[in-house]
Amino acid sequence: MKTWLITGCSSGFGQRLALAAAHRGDQVIATARNGKTIEEMAEPFGGRMITLPLDVTDAAAAKAAVEKAVETFGGFDVLVNNAGYGLFGAIEEGTPEEYRPMFEVNVFGLIETTRAALPILRRSGGTIVNMSSGAGIAGSGGAGYYNAAKFAVEGISEALAGELKPFGIRVLIVEPGPFRTDFLGRSITMAANEMPEYAASSRKDYRETNNGHQAGDPDKAIAVILRAVDADDVPLHLPLGPIAHSIAERKLASFRRDIDAWRDITIATDFDQP
Ligand SMILES: NC(=O)c1ccc[n+]([C@@H]2O[C@H](COP(=O)([O-])OP(=O)(O)OC[C@H]3O[C@@H](n4cnc5c(N)ncnc54)[C@H](OP(=O)(O)O)[C@@H]3O)[C@@H](O)[C@H]2O)c1
Repeated sequence: MKTWLITGCSSGFGQRLALAAAHRGDQVIATARNGKTIEEMAEPFGGRMITLPLDVTDAAAAKAAVEKAVETFGGFDVLVNNAGYGLFGAIEEGTPEEYRPMFEVNVFGLIETTRAALPILRRSGGTIVNMSSGAGIAGSGGAGYYNAAKFAVEGISEALAGELKPFGIRVLIVEPGPFRTDFLGRSITMAANEMPEYAASSRKDYRETNNGHQAGDPDKAIAVILRAVDADDVPLHLPLGPIAHSIAERKLASFRRDIDAWRDITIATDFDQP
């Protein structure tokens, strides 16, 4: 039996993962920015699930959630940094008032929650699941700020994987393509300063056309995440869905092309040997 601490459980992946883990008999600390939105979620599970308020931008709340988890279940062995939202718009269109709060949630919130959880996880070992995105694998016009935040998640996760290996903690970076959650609806902020110059890279039509019609089934995604967390050999990267998979393939191929094409020139940069 595993014990999960999950952020962003009011909807989407977080809610489904909390319910799926509890249904299979695990213990769950489900958290949400507004704790009231998830209060009833725990009722069917007796004492196996508790719900707590946790706005991931509040480091003190992360510490309090960890303390409550220890008090209730003696600790936890899976941390899921799931809370997040997207900001769409060209880099020139975005403003600090728009992009800084997005980094506060997607990057600094993940860091603070992880820092609060590590003293517990280092004792027990376990798994950290960080929700990145296909947007964390490759950048694309109109999503640069979201790309930057999810690239940060990838870098932090890869570093953690090395740092935490001696403690028996594995790191799983989940990189979903489009899945039918609230993400393209209420979890996207569009840069307000829309510039006609960037019409070609605008994500406005993409969002309107795809919201509610994403091909990805979030329940199937959760089944894959559970399987990966349970695996003896947890993968570091888990692109989820065919679109994320092809983003990863394209990224690997273009990276390969670039490093091969410039190899002889770029490796000839050390000081000349005497
Ligand atoms: N669905 C996709 O297509 C997709 C693809 C790639 C990556 N992702 C990633 O998957 C994760 C979950 O998204 P989702 O698809 O499940 O979308 P969702 O249904 O909109 O869920 C997003 C969740 O994040 C929470 N959240 C936002 N800011 C928060 C904060 N400051 N503190 C705590 N919780 C906060 C939201 O809570 P509130 O109810 O309080 O707003 C909500 O529970 C995100 O990290 C997202 O970037 C999703």
